Amino acid sequence: MAGDCVAIPTETVYGLAANALDSRAVASIFEVKNRPFFDPLIVHVASAEAARAYISTLPDAAAALMARFWPGPLTLLLPRNAQIPDLTCAGLPRVALRMPAHPLALELLQQLPFPLAAPSANPFGYISPTCAAHVWDQLRDKIPYILDGGSCRVGLESTIVGFESDQPVAYRLGGLSLEELEEAIGPVELRLNQSSNPAAPGMLTTHYAPRKPLLIGQIGPSGALLDENGAPLEIPASVSRIGLLRFKPGVAADARVRVELSLTSAGDLLEAARHIFGALRALDQADVELIVAETCPDEGLGRAVNDRLRRAAV
Ligand code: TXA
Ligand code: MG
Repeated sequence: MAGDCVAIPTETVYGLAANALDSRAVASIFEVKNRPFFDPLIVHVASAEAARAYISTLPDAAAALMARFWPGPLTLLLPRNAQIPDLTCAGLPRVALRMPAHPLALELLQQLPFPLAAPSANPFGYISPTCAAHVWDQLRDKIPYILDGGSCRVGLESTIVGFESDQPVAYRLGGLSLEELEEAIGPVELRLNQSSNPAAPGMLTTHYAPRKPLLIGQIGPSGALLDENGAPLEIPASVSRIGLLRFKPGVAADARVRVELSLTSAGDLLEAARHIFGALRALDQADVELIVAETCPDEGLGRAVNDRLRRAAV
């Protein structure tokens, strides 16, 4: 593992991991992912104590979040010290830290004498991988090893939180819901979609996108494809085969729908989160020209699922 990067499972998505303290190893991550150097990496640690070695100060609210949600799908942006190379953080003043909850990832981190920088193990801009086969499909020629830890339990990337003048700000919603965060530390400002803001470059609007065009829609009472306002969905005349991504099963009455997938059988948002990326991949590979996706209820993990769908639709 010395200077190479390898794919590892986490509870959120698979990561492409290398020694976070070694600039050359970190550079290989950017190369394999085809990721621009201005987009910094999350540093994965084995414990809250380990995280303290890389930061200059720890706000009380951050300590409270670590105690409550680590290990788990929460990344904290904290002022970094000189231990972390510039490349890992893209020269930014904060380092992103996370203690993952996957048993294999934790065991690996406990055994290594260094933390692991790991972005999601997908080519830059594409859908994050939630099982080893997704990584294999896209990166098998570029990495020496994939540690197979099964399907990811959460299925969405971590929620990213930082502090500005001691006020908590969420830059990305993921596997930890806004409701759970606010229950722990009070109101949290949401600052998503900051594609031009270097504080959270990972939120480039084109992230998480399938290669096929995707429209957000809904199914009307008669089974017709509608837009979010209830008007008929505008589908290009050239499209004859549609892949439909439903929140939960229902009946669509449009002859162009050739493949239909549901995120959950009975409206469970955790299940929808677990399935969203696999479903987008499946539709991207299916014999369809366009993906039409229904949003989830905008609460709990549904908010993060909808965020990924809207980015995919851009
Ligand atoms: O669940 C996850 O977070 C997964 C697993 C592998 O841990 N990782 C992941 O990494 O989603 P990535 O690189 O795909 O997304 C992390 C985002 C980056 O795009 C970047 O914008 C933001 O986190 N980030 C990382 N370090 C940062 C820093 N120092 N300052 C501001 N934003 C940072
Ligand atoms: Mg990513």
